[in-house]
Amino acid sequence: MDHFQYREGRLHAEDVDIEYIAESVGTPFYCYSTATLERHFKAYVDAFASLDATICYAVKANSNIAVISTLSRLGAGADVVSCGELTRALRGGVPANKIVFSGVGKSREEIAAALEAGVLQINVESEPELELINDIAVSQNKRAPIAIRINPDVDAKTHEKITTGLSENKFGIEWTQAHAVFAKAASLPGIEVVGIAVHIGSQLTDLEPYRHAYTRLRDLVAMLCADGHKIARLDLGGGLGIPYGDGEIPADLPTPRDYADVVQSAVGDLQIPLIFEPGRSIAGNAGILVTRILYIKEGATRTFAVVDAAMNDLLRPTLYNAYHDIVPVKQASPGAALKEIDVVGPICETGDTFGVQRQLPSFAAGDLLAIRTAGAYGAVMASTYNSRPLVPEVLVNKSSFDVIRKRWDVDQMIGLEAIPDWFDKPSEG
Ligand code: LLP
Repeated sequence: MDHFQYREGRLHAEDVDIEYIAESVGTPFYCYSTATLERHFKAYVDAFASLDATICYAVKANSNIAVISTLSRLGAGADVVSCGELTRALRGGVPANKIVFSGVGKSREEIAAALEAGVLQINVESEPELELINDIAVSQNKRAPIAIRINPDVDAKTHEKITTGLSENKFGIEWTQAHAVFAKAASLPGIEVVGIAVHIGSQLTDLEPYRHAYTRLRDLVAMLCADGHKIARLDLGGGLGIPYGDGEIPADLPTPRDYADVVQSAVGDLQIPLIFEPGRSIAGNAGILVTRILYIKEGATRTFAVVDAAMNDLLRPTLYNAYHDIVPVKQASPGAALKEIDVVGPICETGDTFGVQRQLPSFAAGDLLAIRTAGAYGAVMASTYNSRPLVPEVLVNKSSFDVIRKRWDVDQMIGLEAIPDWFDKPSEG
């Protein structure tokens, strides 16, 4: 459930009229709801209350420091994958000892920064990375707390581009290698092995792959403990799916509580502290992208609503053919005729399309639309393609709203570029 509802026919975020925000900040813009973020985070806390669990919000889903701050105030940790995300998590008030540093290709600088910050653990994805972490930790006179990310070779049954737990995927260390890699880790002076991590994919709409992966993990724990390793923590990753409003994804998706039941039955009796890294299921339905119709264009076979947001602002439909519900900000009168409309952006690519043949009421240029479920992997995946500056982000809290990222202007967008001096010099020779 989210807090974007119609009141007297006008879409509101909590108690704030979306049209009012549009007039104030211009379009397009992302709008997030504090109450929805909090509700989703608390759903995890409640679901895992009987387990010793830390919820480390996956910052990659929505890394605005105000969003992180909203969650850290409720006790969230963070899962980060770069120095940038580490800095954001710390600025957003997450204590270093609740930060997990993940990622398949951490650089020397990132590892050094993670150790200097004193993160809870670094999730290791390969033997060469393990060796590099050891070297850096020794040079800092430290022992790096690490978890080894296992690739359980389990099909998460999600989109191929966000499946991460198959042996053909680049992630983690093959579970059959765990015995050898843990032995190696234990022999390194700069390494303190604290746990095992697993993450099999994103937007999982079925819990069976989790059950499968966690059961495999459980067997590994038994084997590693028999080898003499102490497994202090299990990081079970993120990935719980959310409804995007299309017919294909069922509305009655597994909840955090259903997920907790699977976790409890697979690994609960191990009595090992757990970490979860949810991103999408916390931020996804807590955000919308608001855009204005520039033109209604009657094509030979289609009607197009050309809007002022584009694939550079929200890439998911273009990249994954993802479905996002699109609704008018001003609700049509009951019984108004619907027609098939393609909602498209202004970029010169056919893929710059938010929705094809959607059943929508008749619109006019100037009308506002909301593209829903855009709070996760929306603003964070934006680019300046076509030299379109990044759009603002707004956070609503009850009856007030704040701009939590300003709209870039063109000077900010091109300000780091330079024309080399030699352009002005006569060529030599
Ligand atoms: N932990 C790790 C190690 C991850 O790789 C991810 C997501 C998460 C946690 C959070 O997963 P979530 O709860 O958000 O599903 N851009 C794609 C999603 C990429 C997810 C990558 N990893 C999209 O827009 O669908």
